[in-house]
Amino acid sequence: MTPPRNSNAARDIVNLLHPYTDARAHAQSGPLVITRGKGVRVFDDQGNSYIETVAGLWCASLGFDNERLVEAATKQMKQLPFYHAFTGRSHEPAIDLAEMLIERAPVPMSKVFFCNSGSEANDTAIKMIWYFNNAIGRPEKKKIIGRLKGYHGITIAAGSATGLPANHKLFDLPIPGFLHTRTPHHYREGLPGETEEQFATRCAEELDAMIVQEGPETVAAFFAEPVMGAGGVLVPPATYYEKIQAVLKKHDVLFVADEVICGFGRTGEYWGCQSMGIQPDILTCAKALSASFLPISAVMINERIFQGLADGSATIGTFGHGFTYSGHPVPAAVAVETLKIYDEMNLVAHVKKVAPVLQDGLRSRFADHPLVGEVRGIGLIGAIELVADKATKKPFDAAQKIGPRLTKIAEANGLIMRALPGDGIAFSPPLIITAEEIVDMLERFGKSLDELAVQLRRESIAAV
Ligand SMILES: Cc1ncc(COP(=O)(O)O)c(C=O)c1O
Repeated sequence: MTPPRNSNAARDIVNLLHPYTDARAHAQSGPLVITRGKGVRVFDDQGNSYIETVAGLWCASLGFDNERLVEAATKQMKQLPFYHAFTGRSHEPAIDLAEMLIERAPVPMSKVFFCNSGSEANDTAIKMIWYFNNAIGRPEKKKIIGRLKGYHGITIAAGSATGLPANHKLFDLPIPGFLHTRTPHHYREGLPGETEEQFATRCAEELDAMIVQEGPETVAAFFAEPVMGAGGVLVPPATYYEKIQAVLKKHDVLFVADEVICGFGRTGEYWGCQSMGIQPDILTCAKALSASFLPISAVMINERIFQGLADGSATIGTFGHGFTYSGHPVPAAVAVETLKIYDEMNLVAHVKKVAPVLQDGLRSRFADHPLVGEVRGIGLIGAIELVADKATKKPFDAAQKIGPRLTKIAEANGLIMRALPGDGIAFSPPLIITAEEIVDMLERFGKSLDELAVQLRRESIAAV
């Protein structure tokens, strides 16, 4: 249907190139234009209301309105709308926020470096690692190992650490020096009869073999989301990180925890590292850091890394890295207020309280559904994986776009959902969601899934 001339939809099609969108299909289908938000809900320009089941992009932790954050931004804009942190300049919001992050870090951290997005934080971490290894006299130790299906953003280095084909194809990524190891997903990658723990051992052995084959003196760091998000909400098997970390330690390979989704309560602890028993050397975070009201991200580094960077910067006369908006006072002030709100609402306790409603609800309602191969998740992040054949785990043909089709049905039932590669459907609602709202979300989702089943049966696409 062609949207009316001069409507938002028509102007969008004429002027906007959308991230993560098939531009040709978009020219036909047009946008969903969101005009306002309240709590866990957003509203479109036709007046329809939706529960945002993925908190936008796994990020709107406090939902879609918050007066305190508006006030924090306004106050800071009036007092000091911009200042930077180059050449030793500073301001209170960045100082406060850095101190608060260091106090809350899952392991002792030394310094915080601010950026504007998750991608920039991970790119910065990679550059810091290269700089560090040069500064301490091991210039050959530079390779970065990510994981297949891992997501670390889309800038050139972070996008190279990402392990998803759509982020590499036609972009000439990954650049040399980036490797990817196995996805720790027992349902898809486990061998017949292999237990989770045996599978975890195999993952660690493969990582060990990769490092040995490359030469440990050439491998600098391993990047991991504690729980993979965009790759499918993949919770690693029991004992995985314990075994992976032993391998990394043996070869003196740094662990970078990408907490861009997991950080700030998502997994049921303050950090995904705490849920998963990870002791990172570097931690990156973004999204819920400011409840996504304004863009800001952070890289936390331990004392060892800091000492290397400090020595390097003393030799050259500067640490030649930084963004105009590194630690911008307005998003920093909003992030400070966000962290205060998390403390006051006892965010972790709230997530622990409502998470079982999501996790048990997903399993009890959908694990036996004929279209569902696996239900997975932890805390307030979860997913179901749609399959063409439950018994054999046969996936749908990607060209059938079954996941996106389900999200379209869900939209009509008042849910904004996200389909992941491999027909996973993600759940990652605002962390303020109540038990009642989770039940409402699951009801609407169940209705949508049943509608999909009826359609697929009618079209003889699935024997359900
Ligand atoms: C784990 C993880 N790392 C990095 C990023 C990239 O963040 P941004 O989109 O802010 O660059 C994302 C975004 O979803 C993410 O999920």
